[in-house]
Amino acid sequence: TELKNIRNFSIVAHIDHGKSTLADRLIQMTGTVAERDMKAQMLDAMDIERERGITIKANSVRIEYPAKDGETYILNLIDTPGHVDFAYEVSRSMQAVEGSLLVVDASQGVEAQTLANVYQAIDAGHEIVPVLNKVDLPAAEPERVKENIEDVIGIDASEAIPISAKTGLGIPEVLEAIVQKLPAPTGDRNAPLKAMLVDSWYDPYLGVVVMIRVMDGVIKKGDRIKMMQTGAVYGVDKLAVLKPKMVDIPELGPGEIGIWTGSIKQVRDTRVGDTITHEKKGTDKPLPGFKPAQPVVFCGLFPVDANDFEDLRDAIEKLALNDASFSYEMETSAALGFGFRMGFLGLLHLEVVRDRLEREYDLDLITTAPSVVFKIHLRDGEVRDLHNPADMPDLTLVEHIEEPRIKATIMVPDEYLGDVLKLCQDRRGVQLNLTYAGTRAMVEYDLPLAEVVFDFYDRLKSVTKGYASFDYQMLEYREDNLVKMSILVNEEPVDALSIMVHRDRAEARGRVMCEKLKDLIPRHMFKIPVQAAIGGRVIARETIAAMRKDVTAKCYGGDATRKRKLLDKQKAGKKKMRQFGKVEIPQEAFINALKMD
Ligand code: GTP
Repeated sequence: TELKNIRNFSIVAHIDHGKSTLADRLIQMTGTVAERDMKAQMLDAMDIERERGITIKANSVRIEYPAKDGETYILNLIDTPGHVDFAYEVSRSMQAVEGSLLVVDASQGVEAQTLANVYQAIDAGHEIVPVLNKVDLPAAEPERVKENIEDVIGIDASEAIPISAKTGLGIPEVLEAIVQKLPAPTGDRNAPLKAMLVDSWYDPYLGVVVMIRVMDGVIKKGDRIKMMQTGAVYGVDKLAVLKPKMVDIPELGPGEIGIWTGSIKQVRDTRVGDTITHEKKGTDKPLPGFKPAQPVVFCGLFPVDANDFEDLRDAIEKLALNDASFSYEMETSAALGFGFRMGFLGLLHLEVVRDRLEREYDLDLITTAPSVVFKIHLRDGEVRDLHNPADMPDLTLVEHIEEPRIKATIMVPDEYLGDVLKLCQDRRGVQLNLTYAGTRAMVEYDLPLAEVVFDFYDRLKSVTKGYASFDYQMLEYREDNLVKMSILVNEEPVDALSIMVHRDRAEARGRVMCEKLKDLIPRHMFKIPVQAAIGGRVIARETIAAMRKDVTAKCYGGDATRKRKLLDKQKAGKKKMRQFGKVEIPQEAFINALKMD
């Protein structure tokens, strides 16, 4: 295809503003998929994504569009992940296209995520076509939202296209705008091959499928190609475009987007952002900006039933085939036995992976407190990355501790602003900026990531009744007065409950944790002290009173079925318990003890 007849674009939108619905419409109206094959929301492949209403893995589709000027154009849509945890993947996808549709719900306005992603698009040098979706809704206010886009994002929205992805209104105008307003890609067919790895996923029949955008040169079926970051060499067994079904193609030239396979075993062998070239006569200049995936949130995952450890290992290895962005290594905990220390791109990523392990592999898991990576500066000059509070070195060896800080952007209707400021302040935040666009406030905070990984999203949602939107980016590592707090149950430290905390907040956190554990741990036949301690010093304490009677005693021995039922109930309740010395701690205690409400 000639460059002038190609348009590559992504869709930037806040969750629920209609990105998937619009993509489906574009596919449908250009006849890319026959009506009867049209599944609702085709681009969101995985069930979990659908249930949670988020797009995790980038996907793409190639559309053929006969434009009003009489020419037929190839439109390549790259579907980018919508969530903040995947900011790096978004930035790479943006580098692979020349323009973006900015979709804003005309009944809502610009949200924090829209903002973060549109800035990425602007950074990538995109031409941006604003689209106002959901104008069929009575609550739609396209004129107000146009102003909102201009105020908040600072781009011209006077020609924003009013559409309804639901009814199809305005879709032909969107297709024309893509052709007329977005630039064609550039590239040199005769230069050495240079293509960007945009995404990859595991297909049970084909093995690893790699999506690329060709910058220069031509890739053909049968070529020997090299991944410049890893140095690995593969043969191109299959070359195809996604319509969105795979359709084989003999070659891909500059400006084109497609997929190839080449007996790659695991997704881990492919790196988003890597440059692909020919093994022989390839380029020696990789594309700039490559970064390896860096997990920022860590937690331990343990099977509730120690016998399930091998199953957990299998499940994690299978999942890892398809998701290269989490890390895992075996961990042993005195309290929880054998499990894994896992690293994730963010909290949502953690939840998604944990959910998939539990649901798809039918495992009962204990998740320990999410933790960030602290930098421990030792007196002897060594700097250690601390992924697990349990590995904290002896305090006498420690010179100082640094923690990651983030810049959070929160957009919220002004009636909730006070609560949001208080929440950020409570989490050791430093306000950077506060501006208004109409009745919505936009506030920026410098916050410790460690304070955000517990239950910040949940708290933010609840104090704003769901009206706030949130996004963040990493700022830097900074020193603070941080200590490790341990929890002792019946005088025994429970390593899975230890956390890193700011010294000034340790007493308060310790008290809350002890109080919660007092409620979460059932009574036993003996008294159980629950204590929080720093070093050897106890800073908070609660006591769980002893239980007096056997629960079956009140059945008077007479009614056997009732007694059986009661015992069964007790047994079921026990299923999710773990034994610590003489004490049984229920699974949910490990997460609930850490919530800060
Ligand atoms: P993520 O995949 O979570 O990022 O969401 P999304 O932005 O892709 O939104 P999606 O297309 O899933 O749409 C969100 C909801 O809005 C769905 O219930 C759609 O049916 C609805 N919706 C999308 N477009 C329109 C529209 O034009 N009008 C109306 N009334 N509803 C729409």
